[in-house]
Amino acid sequence: MSMRDDSRSSAAALETGRSLQMEPAAMLALARQAAGIAVDRWSRLPEEDAWDGEFSRDLSERLAEDAPEDGRPAAEVLERAARDILPIGLRLDHPRCFAFIPTAPTWPSIVADFMASAYSVNACTWLVASGASQTELVVVDWFRRWIGYPEGAGGLITSGGSAASLNALVVAREAAGYPENATVYMSDQSHGAIIRAAATIGIRRERIRIIPSDDLFRIDMDALARSVAEDRAAGANPIAVVATAGTSSSGAIDPLEAMADFCGAQGIWLHVDAAYGGFALLAEKGKQALRGVEKADSIGLDAHKWFFQPYEAGGLLVKDERKLVQAFGVRADVLQDTIWGKNHPNFSDRSFEVSRSFRAFKIWMSVQTFGLRAFRGAVSRAMELAERAEGFVQASPVLEMSTPLSLSIACFRVNPVDANLDEATIEDANRTVLARVFWEDRAFISSTILHGTFCLRLCILNDRTSWEDVRKTLEVIERFGREYLDRVSQQ
Ligand SMILES: Cc1ncc(COP(=O)(O)O)c(C=O)c1O
Repeated sequence: MSMRDDSRSSAAALETGRSLQMEPAAMLALARQAAGIAVDRWSRLPEEDAWDGEFSRDLSERLAEDAPEDGRPAAEVLERAARDILPIGLRLDHPRCFAFIPTAPTWPSIVADFMASAYSVNACTWLVASGASQTELVVVDWFRRWIGYPEGAGGLITSGGSAASLNALVVAREAAGYPENATVYMSDQSHGAIIRAAATIGIRRERIRIIPSDDLFRIDMDALARSVAEDRAAGANPIAVVATAGTSSSGAIDPLEAMADFCGAQGIWLHVDAAYGGFALLAEKGKQALRGVEKADSIGLDAHKWFFQPYEAGGLLVKDERKLVQAFGVRADVLQDTIWGKNHPNFSDRSFEVSRSFRAFKIWMSVQTFGLRAFRGAVSRAMELAERAEGFVQASPVLEMSTPLSLSIACFRVNPVDANLDEATIEDANRTVLARVFWEDRAFISSTILHGTFCLRLCILNDRTSWEDVRKTLEVIERFGREYLDRVSQQ
């Protein structure tokens, strides 16, 4: 196109204002095509591999290019994405994906994300997004009740657990009055996101205290108390302790009641990172396991993990909502029209984000569609499957649990009874098994290190996962373990 053509077409666009628009029929066709691809993928997923990543060399050959000056038919662009981009990597919603913390969003919540975009909702202020803000209040209040927090607690839907913890530490620091030498405490099993959150609010690395964990991977309370006392004696100011309710390694739950009592007595903010384990509260067993969580000053929990939502959907609840607003509320002249008073909160006053997608909508839409009972059932089933996995491992002559099951994460390893293998051989066996599952099996699992010991790990969360999916995966691990041992014994 010449420069003259360019200026003619922009003049035409000024008349019609349509350079980025589609006709309604084309809009519908594209949306139908997208829905068709997504549903077809969902139907075929169990027959596909849980992982299909590629190296950058191959992907860049397919994808590296200058932004095209002229467009192409949307149907072609979408087909290319569905072939070359979207399926490449880990299928976190595959029924046999047990790695890291998988997830499996419900269809209504996926559609809700689409609709929130279609309505161009910016969940920043009441004026801009009244319906969305009221809905977020409703969803946050559901979370409040599930946790057992009192009225007066409140929060917001965040992008995830990292953002929830970051926001929580900002509130903790504000509540502590921005002291010098602020110090934050967490266990050696805490998620890296907590260290990052502390660093982001300006806690110096040497003031981030990593407290050792006990045999069950829960924070050592004596060590915590000692560390706080020593820091105070040296003139430091403890501003927050972060507990984990469901560590990502082994599902371990810190002693929440003891930590709350300790922090209460010491006047230190207690934040609970329940990004993985928080929604276990919906099941009776999980509720027992998380006893005392309601005593914390703030809690983060990820709906994009065990509450079956698409990324991004986390939540932060603060026991005294006013502290959240004190920490983040900022008056801006340009937004003065949005101040509508107490009953009309502006969610942009509750975190570091102004423009925000309407994340509460997907949670609302999927709970309205299926009902809470269905969610409770899905959460409970994941724990039951994990218990059966533990039973399988305990009964296996080849496998052993590395630590008792907690929530829905089973950590175990190949270590046959009576084989008397040394630690180096056991680790090599397990690394070999992991690599073989990766390259040879449909399932995908990951590993962790528990107090220096390499283990395999299954995290079961997906509502589509059946016992057969879990059993087949454990049988494959058992077989690869046996084959390794046969090889070693013949050498
Ligand atoms: C215990 C825990 N905390 C924090 C995070 C970080 O959450 P997000 O990835 O939602 O930011 C995770 C993620 O897996 C987690 O398992």
